[in-house]
Amino acid sequence: MSAEKTENLSWIDKRFPLTETWKAHFSDYYAPKNLNFWSFFGSLAILTLVIQIVSGIWLAMSYKPSAAEAFASVEYIMRDVEWGWLIRYIHSTGASAFFIVIYLHMFRALLWGSYRKPRELLWIIGVVIYLAMMATAFFGYLLPWGQMSFWGAQVIVNLFAAVPVIGDDLAVWVRGDYVISDTTLNRFFAFHFLLPFVLAALVFLHIVALHHVGSNNPDGIEIKAGPKGNRWSDTAPADGIPFHPYFTVKDLVGMVVFLALFSVVVFYAPTLGGLFIEAPNFQPANPFQTPEHIAPVWYFTPYYAMLRAVPPMYGSQFPGVVVMFLAILILFALPWLDRSKVKSMRYKGVFSKFMLGMFAVTFVVLAWLGLQPSTPLYTLMAQIFTALYFAFFLLMPIYTSIEKTKPVPERVTS
Ligand code: HEM
Repeated sequence: MSAEKTENLSWIDKRFPLTETWKAHFSDYYAPKNLNFWSFFGSLAILTLVIQIVSGIWLAMSYKPSAAEAFASVEYIMRDVEWGWLIRYIHSTGASAFFIVIYLHMFRALLWGSYRKPRELLWIIGVVIYLAMMATAFFGYLLPWGQMSFWGAQVIVNLFAAVPVIGDDLAVWVRGDYVISDTTLNRFFAFHFLLPFVLAALVFLHIVALHHVGSNNPDGIEIKAGPKGNRWSDTAPADGIPFHPYFTVKDLVGMVVFLALFSVVVFYAPTLGGLFIEAPNFQPANPFQTPEHIAPVWYFTPYYAMLRAVPPMYGSQFPGVVVMFLAILILFALPWLDRSKVKSMRYKGVFSKFMLGMFAVTFVVLAWLGLQPSTPLYTLMAQIFTALYFAFFLLMPIYTSIEKTKPVPERVTS
């Protein structure tokens, strides 16, 4: 580095810990050398968050958050704003891509046991991020003011009305009105603009927590507790590799592949057959005409299927609402439900492997069921798969403590 650059850097470093921060989180942050495909999704989640914030700000420059103008303003963005159609499709595809990446990111944590000690708080911050993502997506879903936006929001906000005693007031409070109206649209836009920045702050905390405890790996071995010394440093973990440039370059490869797939959807199949943008949403909201079949976007449908699986009690959907929220809140308890002697699925026994496989299938089946019109057969299937979903968590303390596990090696295996 030139003398002048060094001088400038030391001037900055005396006033701001730039080199120190770079070293702590990049060049001298050692990540396990056996990180594989599953560790792409953290950096892809950062990339999608940035895509959503940037494309969202651009959309907000032309979007009109009023019931009278919202639908027309999206049409105007699609037809008249320069590259408006591209920005809109980047944002709508980005929403689904964000959830695909996050579900794979969370699944990786189940595979490697990355919610276990010392990463309990890292996981809990993650679950809070997941809740904030769902709130952001829910508020954003109303903004196009299409038929599915309007009626989807109507269904979800009405769930608040199912809460005993305070329900009706709660629903009016959320809507700002007695029905989904201009007031609701305005405040949902405000929240949809604010929450991504809350998300960014949560992600900052998430990464700080991660770099404090260190990254886990497919073997579930704490490299920090292992032998020291590698070709970069005598004090660093022997099984560690500097994050920069090795994993930054690796994550860049993941990003290139992701953006290629992302572009195929944006340019050739932005609605993805109605999965990413539903056909009824190309019609303006009509409070007097209900669409044939109301379903939320696919990333919410596993929980929607659970809601519909629980029969109403005394005409109230409240039991279904409770089951739906418990299905998400139970994620907070995961670090304490898993009693296994080992972290990674690699060394866990057949019960854990079977239950995790069953859980993955269950989640996908529930997502599919939530997209279907409600029939007696689908309701029965949703009841069975909702039970299996909770069985994965509620039986975990038993099957993880009784099953036979394999011995975990001293050092990470590549
Ligand atoms: C905006 C959303 C999110 C972003 C940007 C994000 C980012 C990251 C990054 C960059 C990493 C390190 C790289 C990696 O191992 O993948 C990571 C690790 C982790 N994340 Fe997230 N994350 C997000 C949401 C979540 C959610 C929703 C959960 C769980 C509910 C979660 C749980 C974890 C865990 C447990 C680790 C540690 C993995 C390990 O060390 O093996 N994250 N996250």
